[in-house]
Order: sequence, then structure tokens, then C-alpha cells
Amino acid sequence: MSTPILTAEHVGKIFTARGADSVVAIQDLSLTIDEGEFVCLLGASGCGKTTMLNIFAGFTQPTSGRVTLRGRPILKIEPRCGMVFQSYALFPWRTVLGNVEFGLQMQGVAAAERRRRAERFIEMVHLKGFERHYPSELSGGMQQRVSLARVLAADPDVLLMDEPFAALDAMTRQTMQDELLTIQEASRKTVVFITHSIDEAMILADRIVIMSARPGRVKTILANTLPRPRRADVQLSPAYAALKAEVWSLVQAEVLGHAEATRLRSD
Ligand SMILES: Nc1ncnc2c1ncn2[C@@H]1O[C@H](COP(=O)(O)OP(=O)(O)OP(=O)(O)O)[C@@H](O)[C@H]1O
Ligand SMILES: [Mg+2]
Repeated sequence: MSTPILTAEHVGKIFTARGADSVVAIQDLSLTIDEGEFVCLLGASGCGKTTMLNIFAGFTQPTSGRVTLRGRPILKIEPRCGMVFQSYALFPWRTVLGNVEFGLQMQGVAAAERRRRAERFIEMVHLKGFERHYPSELSGGMQQRVSLARVLAADPDVLLMDEPFAALDAMTRQTMQDELLTIQEASRKTVVFITHSIDEAMILADRIVIMSARPGRVKTILANTLPRPRRADVQLSPAYAALKAEVWSLVQAEVLGHAEATRLRSD
């Protein structure tokens, strides 16, 4: 049976900037995510995906509605939700080991235990041997692995991932997707993952949430029933092609609809 872990209930978010018009980033967004589920958010640029993730993490508060983790409102930064940012957000003055240990240090974990846990996750993301390197000495893919290890080491219940692989080359991206799936299948962590790539959503997600253009709302939720384990060759199946066509037409309708509305407004 599925148990809800994370909910957004009629969430709205309005940004009011001094001297500028206010922006309605999110409007009446409701979503329930189950324990152990892998959910991908797909939507046009500026539709409020990052804002929604920041609200789940407790980095910012909604203007209306609420978010909950296991039924409790998220009112401040929520350590049970770990964020992997699009830009790797590593501390340049800390080594790989120092970066991965950071969250554990903040939690007050003793030095020896910290080291042991950090080493385990560095090994999991295949960076053994690079513990003493600094971020500037690593490739983009390696830096993204460090930020994944850092979040995993802190052992959150929910992984919030904001286009984590967008800047990677195609081969590294595929490897990272495989690794993330392996880690998620083993740990059964709940993942909320933002992407612009339909293929990425189809490889990773149990459910694909398609958001409307700004203000962001849930437009459609599609169950991704492609069999697991999913690896790159799943893309060769007819079921894959059929689902991709469906997702693509929904996304396209939203993007084109938005462009049309914008054109009409400016006429
Ligand atoms: N701190 C802020 N102050 C004012 N406006 C903001 C702020 N953060 C986001 N916005 C606005 O809210 C809207 C949604 O932004 P958000 O970053 O959530 O979009 P997104 O869906 O993540 O886009 P992208 O796919 O390009 O990353 C945008 O119009 C943006 O300008
Ligand atoms: Mg964003």
C-alpha cells in the first residue's frame, strides 16, 4: 500500500519585487508524493519548478496553501529533505571528503563516524581515490557525483533534485541516471526530480508531473508503467515510443498554448 510522504496542498507563491510587478510563480498547486516514489516534474522554463522544490525544502514559504512532510507542515528548512542543486554548489575550499562530510558535521556526527560514512558514499558514486581533490580539479560529472554523495551521506528521506544532470554531456548523464536508479532502487528513497528532458523523465520516473506554463499548476500526471529495471535499451521498446508521444503532445500543447496566449496579450 502506498503511504503519502510529501504533499503540496493548494500551494500559491507570489514574488513581490520592489519597483516591479509581482510575479505569480505558482497557483493552486496540489500534489501528493508517496513514500519511495520517484516523481519527475516537467514544465516550461519559468513555470515555477525550482520555486516548488524550494518550498518542499523549506527554503522559502508559500504565499498560500501549505506543504507537509509525513503530515507535518514544513515551516523551516527541512533536514529530512536533501537538495541537489543544478549548479553543484560545492564548497571550493573543501576537498571531496570535506564536502561530503559537511552535512554530517552540521548534524554533529563524530569525526570517525563522519569519515566512515563519507567514504562509503564517495565509493558509491565511484570517486574513490579523489577524496583529497578540490572541486576545481574535477570534471562537471564528478562534481555532480560529489554533490549527490553529500546529500546521500546526510541520509534524508526525500531527495529534491533540480535538473541535476542538465549540464552534463550525454554519456555522463546516462551513467549518472543509471547510478541514481541503482541507488534509489537499493535505498527506496523518495525522489522529486526536475528535468526538461522527456527521455530523462521516462527513464527515471514512476510518475511524470506535467506543469502548466506560469503560474505553475499541475496540468497532468502520467503513470510511467515502463518495466523496471530501466536502462537505456528501454528506449527501443514500442511502449516507450507510445508514452513519449503522449508526454510530448501534452508538453507541446502547454508550451504552444502559452506562446499563443503571450502573443495575444502583446497584440
Ligand atoms: N526570488 C525570486 N524573486 C522574484 N521572482 C522570482 C524569484 N524566484 C523565482 N522567481 C520568478 O518565479 C517564476 C518561476 O521561477 P522558477 O525558478 O521557479 O522557474 P523554473 O520552472 O524553475 O524555470 P527553469 O526551468 O528556467 O529553471 C519566474 O518568473 C521567476 O522570475
Ligand atoms: Mg529552475
